Amino acid sequence: MLSRVVQLEEGKEIAFTNGRTVLNKAFPLKLILLFGLFLAFSFAFFFISVSTIKYYGINSVVTSVTSSFVPCHEKPNDLDKWIKPSMVLMHNMSDEELLWRASFMPKRKKYPFNRVPKIAFMFLTMGPLPLSPLWERLLKGHEEHYSIYIHSQVSSSANFPPSSVFYRRHIPSQVAEWGRMTMCDAERRLLANALLDISNEWFILLSESCIPLFNFTTIYEYISKSKHSFMGSFDDPSAYGRGRYHPNMAPEVSLDQWRKGSQWFEVNREVAVSIIKDTLYYPKFKEFCTPACYVDEHYFPTMLTIEKPAALANRSLTWVDWSRGGAHPATFGDQDINEEFFTRILKGDNCTYNGRYTSMCSLFARKFSPSALEPLINIAPKILSF
Ligand SMILES: *[C@@H]1O[C@H](CO)[C@@H](O)[C@H](O)[C@H]1NC(C)=O
Ligand SMILES: *[C@@H]1O[C@H](CO)[C@@H](O)[C@H](O)[C@H]1NC(C)=O
Ligand SMILES: *[C@@H]1O[C@H](CO)[C@@H](O)[C@H](O)[C@H]1NC(C)=O
Ligand SMILES: *[C@@H]1O[C@H](CO)[C@@H](O)[C@H](O)[C@H]1NC(C)=O
Repeated sequence: MLSRVVQLEEGKEIAFTNGRTVLNKAFPLKLILLFGLFLAFSFAFFFISVSTIKYYGINSVVTSVTSSFVPCHEKPNDLDKWIKPSMVLMHNMSDEELLWRASFMPKRKKYPFNRVPKIAFMFLTMGPLPLSPLWERLLKGHEEHYSIYIHSQVSSSANFPPSSVFYRRHIPSQVAEWGRMTMCDAERRLLANALLDISNEWFILLSESCIPLFNFTTIYEYISKSKHSFMGSFDDPSAYGRGRYHPNMAPEVSLDQWRKGSQWFEVNREVAVSIIKDTLYYPKFKEFCTPACYVDEHYFPTMLTIEKPAALANRSLTWVDWSRGGAHPATFGDQDINEEFFTRILKGDNCTYNGRYTSMCSLFARKFSPSALEPLINIAPKILSF
């Protein structure tokens, strides 16, 4: 090390000595050179000073000239950053940062631009989406009216091609366990990410085993014309309802306010913001609703019934079959898919929609296994009209 430094120092010394030797031999030339250098330095200093003083003035003149003379050149509108959704869904905001950001809400009723309200389809999955071809078929051609978000526990290596409606629609995800608060966290994460797009007006939570029961036009009409958000919410007096209530939830939640409902919801923007902004009920449910209290069946229904009862239809839009009994609803495979099966789903119900009785109660159904895909694709044009 030391020898190398010495060598370098020596080299510099030699070079310097050589230069001086040359200059010493031509003394008048050195004076002229020095004078020239002095002049150059003075001019440089002068120009730098002047440009520094004038910098902002000159800069703004140049900008305004460019913008008025080159109107075709795309200069983003300053409003765009508030209304244009980001094409990249991956971000590194923490949940706390994300929920805070997503809780921003305009207070003026009218939008100062042509807002086409969209449906946000939010897929809460373990890994892949085996029924994706069915959803592709439903959604293709309706790009103006929907957005897709995927929260996937297993980082999906089976990525979708650029032509797919699911291409690059994954959001930053974390582990979500059934019946635990991490499940509600994942649902809030989906809502918050979807809220970042100001055009999303309705938010539907779906799983990888869900299917649509109608074509896109019908789904959009039903949801956009509804006066209510479809959150299942009812008072279950049994051990599986009120029996899960913990007295320490009071005073925020009393026993008669305790509600139960399916996890699979459809909510409008206002209700979605209520869910993600909550800091009052969240700690109570996190601490006092642990298995056998399944928090994903109680937190949102209870909280919203207290905060926004008139906004709720108190029923879910997602059909599910509990008739086979047990802890989990029935799963349907290729053997189950036929016309009679869908007649049962599509006509067998009676509920209210905007205050009127109807048999059209569900827009989605679960649970379907991957083997159901092919028969579903075959039957869709005739039975499901897409
Ligand atoms: C997020 O990424 C930016 C740069 O892309 C970095 O400056 C910032 O510290 C990151 N934040 C977190 C919370 O990781
Ligand atoms: C969508 O389905 C409805 C019936 O639910 C049908 O009347 C309508 O023609 C369908 N629309 C398209 C575009 O297929
Ligand atoms: C849903 O339930 C709440 C109270 O539990 C009630 O105020 C509201 O009117 C109900 N919604 C409908 C559509 O009946
Ligand atoms: C639905 O139920 C209500 C009240 O129970 C009844 O009046 C109505 O006729 C029923 N509608 C259908 C289509 O069954």
